[in-house]
Amino acid sequence: MQIELDNPAAATRIQRLKAMTDATHDRLDKRIMAAQPFASKERYAQFLDVQHGFHADVAPLYAAPELNRLLPGLADRCRFQAIKQDIRDITGNEPAAIESRNGALDLPTALGWVYVAEGSNLGAAFLLKEAIKLGLSEDAGARHLAGHPDGRGLHWRNFVSAYNALPMSEADELKVAEGAKAAFNRVHALVEETFA
Ligand code: HEM
Repeated sequence: MQIELDNPAAATRIQRLKAMTDATHDRLDKRIMAAQPFASKERYAQFLDVQHGFHADVAPLYAAPELNRLLPGLADRCRFQAIKQDIRDITGNEPAAIESRNGALDLPTALGWVYVAEGSNLGAAFLLKEAIKLGLSEDAGARHLAGHPDGRGLHWRNFVSAYNALPMSEADELKVAEGAKAAFNRVHALVEETFA
């Protein structure tokens, strides 16, 4: 669904970002669902490989002191360990040791990647329901899709408040959107590779 904002200046930063990246997100949603990641545990294991690759890319951002200064508590939001545990749960094997393929990112670009990773936890409510149908749960195999104990919505709104309050020029915000699109496209490329 393509979202047009009537008055972008009156919207919040997150609303503008969502509008600027909606087509990229939609393309990714469709590609992922076409891969039928919830058709079997084997396919779900492939989906976990995609998530593992993406969250390896963003894990260093969640740990970065500068980003934690801007977004307090960011490090605690990182789901990389939960994904690794999901892989152990599902396959019985230790996940491959992988590292981020992003070089050093400038701050706005990094913020774009973090937006995509955090936002994907909001959409994960739907994915968790599908995983539960496969016999998985927030305690086994689908840990990384779980909502925060405080509530998925509240956890997201707290992130959004901090993110909307960051001082940022219009040019920076466009860079954030480009970073976010790159993140969506990275996940898309991982889906192509993994489900080829
Ligand atoms: C790993 C892949 C995915 C990533 C990186 C991702 C990313 C995001 C982001 C950034 C948002 C927040 C948008 C905002 O409100 O600003 C979001 C929300 C959402 N996503 Fe995804 N997404 C992914 C997969 C999916 C899939 C496969 C579906 C379903 C087919 C989906 C459905 C949704 C829905 C329904 C929301 C809105 C939730 C709400 O407003 O309550 N996403 N996702």
